[in-house]
Amino acid sequence: MNKVYENILTRASVRSFTDKAIERSDLELILDAGVHAPSGMNKQTWRFTVLSSQDKIQGFAKAVREALGRDESYNFYKPAALVIMSNDRDNHLGEVDCACALENMFLMAHELGIGSCWINQANVCCDDEAVRSMLTSFGVPVNHRVYGMAALGYAAGEVVPKEKNKAAICFVD
Ligand SMILES: Cc1cc2nc3c(=O)[nH]c(=O)nc-3n(C[C@H](O)[C@H](O)[C@H](O)COP(=O)(O)O)c2cc1C
Repeated sequence: MNKVYENILTRASVRSFTDKAIERSDLELILDAGVHAPSGMNKQTWRFTVLSSQDKIQGFAKAVREALGRDESYNFYKPAALVIMSNDRDNHLGEVDCACALENMFLMAHELGIGSCWINQANVCCDDEAVRSMLTSFGVPVNHRVYGMAALGYAAGEVVPKEKNKAAICFVD
């Protein structure tokens, strides 16, 4: 089977990770795939903020959890690494650009045997005071909004791709 097609077909969201860390060289490949994504008018105003310290990831999860009133089980699924995708709030294509970059990273991670999951909640609370203060400590510019995050790590169990709705494809010949 075509390698790209096979990679796309076998990727699935992973929500349970082992404690194994991701090699820096693998993380760099994943991020490199992200920056090679398309962006509207090629603006590339995005920022890929990569956390691999468990203290920082869980500290950020706590800030998001408290901003949204979620319970203690909310922990971004305890990933080995977290990529916070943000973009200039004045770029009206910033959110979709971040989505393209996230999918590139998911596919690259999958190719390396690393699981991934989109984590969305920081999108709605990135301007909460405590969340913003952590983002600032990570170097995220204040004019950036968070548009999605990638939880990355080695899957703790079997990952089964979901059925997809092929009826959504409509050729108009
Ligand atoms: C815009 C967007 C937001 C998502 N937010 C979350 C999320 O906050 N938490 C989560 O566990 N999964 C999240 N997901 C993952 C979806 O639930 C998942 O992609 C979907 O169930 C299909 O499964 P698959 O990725 O295994 O194909 C999100 C996906 C997208 C595209």
